[in-house]
Amino acid sequence: MIKVDNLEKSFKKKDVLKKISFEVGKGEVVGLLGENGAGKTTLLRLLSTLLTPSGGNLRVAGFDTVKQQEQVRKSIGVLFGGETGLYQRLTARENIYYFGRLYKMPADQMEARLMELARYFSFESFLDRKVGEFSRGMLQKVAIARSLLHNPEVILLDEPTTGLDVTSAHGVRKLIFDLKEQGKTVIFSSHIMEEVERLCDRVVMLHNGVILYDGGLQNLFEKEGTNDLERIFMSRIGGVV
Ligand SMILES: Nc1ncnc2c1ncn2[C@@H]1O[C@H](COP(=O)(O)OP(=O)(O)OP(=O)(O)O)[C@@H](O)[C@H]1O
Ligand SMILES: [Mg+2]
Repeated sequence: MIKVDNLEKSFKKKDVLKKISFEVGKGEVVGLLGENGAGKTTLLRLLSTLLTPSGGNLRVAGFDTVKQQEQVRKSIGVLFGGETGLYQRLTARENIYYFGRLYKMPADQMEARLMELARYFSFESFLDRKVGEFSRGMLQKVAIARSLLHNPEVILLDEPTTGLDVTSAHGVRKLIFDLKEQGKTVIFSSHIMEEVERLCDRVVMLHNGVILYDGGLQNLFEKEGTNDLERIFMSRIGGVV
């Protein structure tokens, strides 16, 4: 579903990603780990077609992220931590419909899917309130629902639980679990090791522009002789354990 091949990204003279390669199969949930500035958001933005690679190739759902941007966008649902991209003066429903129209979804299909998502995320009661007055958790629910409206195969989430309270964070984790059950492919970045341990089949660790580890969590635990992902991460990046 995702194929990253010798991907490079530099900003001015800074090489953020240095020829990284990895693949993600259908139905896999992959956790993206790395310190602040490691390039997690940059990688997710590249996969979302929002940035252009400086070198290498990127394919999502079989499409090239540079040459087939529109097909890639139709196949993905994206959420970037903090920035929900919702219009403050529109209601939750209007925001979601606006997005659906951009995707040229038929009105009845959009309505049915909206109600399904509103029930799933329990926001039926504030569907018709302006998002400008929403709390962070409410905003996040609407933003996630919006990103899933067109039922994408690949879901890219940048720190989806950061800043959420226990209940909302739990909701997002349940969502990732349910997406996996539905056979969707998910990549999410996180600084919360416990969340990664609980949800992911695989992890990709980024550090200084390269991949330090790409593989199954169980394999990693066996290799390192411990199930303590934080400890493993710290030792792999050469930090103090
Ligand atoms: N548009 C940009 N212009 C210049 N430099 C950028 C740009 N976007 C990202 N960078 C740089 O790329 C590096 C990686 O940033 P990125 O946001 O991808 O890190 P991250 O792993 O998501 O970190 P965090 O955990 O803090 O979210 C940083 O050094 C950052 O300053
Ligand atoms: Mg980031």
